[in-house]
Amino acid sequence: MTEQTLSNLLHENRRFEPPAELAANANVKADAYDEAGADREAFWAKAADRLSWAQRWDRVLDDDNPPFFKWFTGGKLNAAYNCVDRHVEAGNGDRVALHWVGEPVSDQGAESRDLTYAQLKDEVSQAANALSSLGVATGDRVAIYMPMIPEAIVTMLACARLGAPHTVVFGGFSAEALASRIEDCGAKVVVTADGGYRRGAPSALKPAVDEARSIAAGAGHTVEKVLVVRRTGQDVAWEDGVDVWWHDAVATASTEHTPEAFDAEHPLYVMYTSGTTGKPKGILHTTGGYLTQAAFTHWEVFDLKPETDVYWCTADIGWVTGHSYIVYGPLANGATQVLYEGTPDYPERGRWWRIIEEKKVTLFYTAPTAIRSFMKQGHDIPDQHDLSSLRILGSVGEPINPEAYVWYRHVIGGDRTPVVDTWWQTETGAMMISPLPGVTHAKPGSAMNPLPGVTADVVDDEGHPVPNGSGGYLVLTQPWPSMLRTIWGDDQRYIDTYWARFRDANGGQGYYFAGDGAKKDEDGDLWVLGRVDDVMNVSGHRLSTTEIESALVSHPYVAEAAVVGATDADTGQAVVAYVILREGAPESCEKELSDHVRTQIGPIAKPKRIMIVPELPKTRSGKIMRRLLRDLAEGRGVGDTTTLADSSIMELIAAGKAASTED
Ligand code: WTA
Repeated sequence: MTEQTLSNLLHENRRFEPPAELAANANVKADAYDEAGADREAFWAKAADRLSWAQRWDRVLDDDNPPFFKWFTGGKLNAAYNCVDRHVEAGNGDRVALHWVGEPVSDQGAESRDLTYAQLKDEVSQAANALSSLGVATGDRVAIYMPMIPEAIVTMLACARLGAPHTVVFGGFSAEALASRIEDCGAKVVVTADGGYRRGAPSALKPAVDEARSIAAGAGHTVEKVLVVRRTGQDVAWEDGVDVWWHDAVATASTEHTPEAFDAEHPLYVMYTSGTTGKPKGILHTTGGYLTQAAFTHWEVFDLKPETDVYWCTADIGWVTGHSYIVYGPLANGATQVLYEGTPDYPERGRWWRIIEEKKVTLFYTAPTAIRSFMKQGHDIPDQHDLSSLRILGSVGEPINPEAYVWYRHVIGGDRTPVVDTWWQTETGAMMISPLPGVTHAKPGSAMNPLPGVTADVVDDEGHPVPNGSGGYLVLTQPWPSMLRTIWGDDQRYIDTYWARFRDANGGQGYYFAGDGAKKDEDGDLWVLGRVDDVMNVSGHRLSTTEIESALVSHPYVAEAAVVGATDADTGQAVVAYVILREGAPESCEKELSDHVRTQIGPIAKPKRIMIVPELPKTRSGKIMRRLLRDLAEGRGVGDTTTLADSSIMELIAAGKAASTED
């Protein structure tokens, strides 16, 4: 973020007070901050009591072995029972859990399907029975690679019901990316579909699973079964004995399944996310603390009234937002929600607003990148729809600039709705810093304050809190229930990545380092500014510069590569790659290199620009000076090059050719 943007942010004087009626009836009021401040553990114990436990915990927080914290030890529960069965038992079986909307639209209207909690319970039970008969037992890992269809949620809950941790891989990732995740967590079964719909066309998934299975086999890991939902009807290759149709195995299974209660610390899922090295990190979340905070924050920050609200989160289930705020949080709360399969602008640019109007959505959660792209289209399209059902709007994934915030509130929210800018991460599992819609006098662009029960600060290089009006590193100062427990299979990397940067004076636990920069304004409110490490944020998706560099150098034409995230008006950041070619490589191979990144990782990682350069700027110790490359990519020209081993190099690079690889 440039100095200019920073100072603009801090001169943002607009304030939005909570609507009086919302404030009066809010689920969580101002006293929650005091209550949590007085006794944090008692506060979280009360939040955990919103769930059904088969056995109550002995201890709220076990901090005997930091940074390996445990929550609600001794307690037992089943996450799927909490998300489904208990609502049916409470007499709410007829309540709609999912208003699913498919992408295709015909003369009869959009393809759609409503699932009540009773129907969801039957399907989850059937899927659990089917997975068991395919050999999935408690503790086995299941990979899920699916479009946004109800079966994806059913599968996640069926895994939770069996105590078999799932790892959902975003359907936009390539076969290679899928294979590396399957191998890393040792998934025994993969659940997928023939394909899904995107921009009006069926897009295949099963071929990538076949390829991933053979890549994994080459590395010595066997995927035993692949369970396939028929969604698009595309032709698929079939291997008898491995591939099984969902309609054969699940639809015919019994709807009776008794869930077993698991330990509060039993693994619930592994979610892979980009870190500062090339290898994605398998973030491990466990059951009791995770479900407690996902459910509580969803009820608190969206002020959910499950009897009357219709909630819609536009994230994909392949990201953590889909896990916490489509699956576990809302369903544990008995919410009614919209699940939409496709793209925002198909078959027309007002598709989202039409869905809000038709389903009378009251709570809406999306990402700044989407808001900015709608802003560009103007207000005419949303103005054609009745959006008056909306009462709270949420934002997540990247900093929301004040103009986008104000547009969102004004054009979509009709100036009635609070906007909650929620800061959190795959690692935190649930929202950490956010306004409360019935309490906070919100400032556009600020995530405001840590939620009750959460403690955060902004510190300098030595770990000392900075005064109001200054910037530094965002840290979390005490453990929280939905925190990651470790990196799958790599405890040391967990310690090194999150807990080594700010140890306490005795070299002990200290603070959790989030990897983000932040500023405290004069009132002490927080403004999250973005990543301070080699992680980029492109359209709200985390990508590692090193991961894309490794993909580039794995191509035979490439000798060396450096990737930076350059500020981009639409996507937040854009991937820009500087590449040194090997001798004999053809001159214009930018397109080929960019396609190679697409196959290695997926379309989201494709560089927006690739510059072929004769050299990369390095310090005397051989470290690439990305700052200089970022300056160049953002059009600031060649900056201070005095620490370079060869200061003429930047001039060479700047004079070199740059090619755009945008489609
Ligand atoms: C960024 C997504 C500013 C941040 C839930 C964080 C945000 C990373 C916000 C996590 C926000 C997320 N304001 N920045 N409201 N929300 N971020 O793991 O850089 O995909 O570290 O989790 O997104 O991305 P992740």
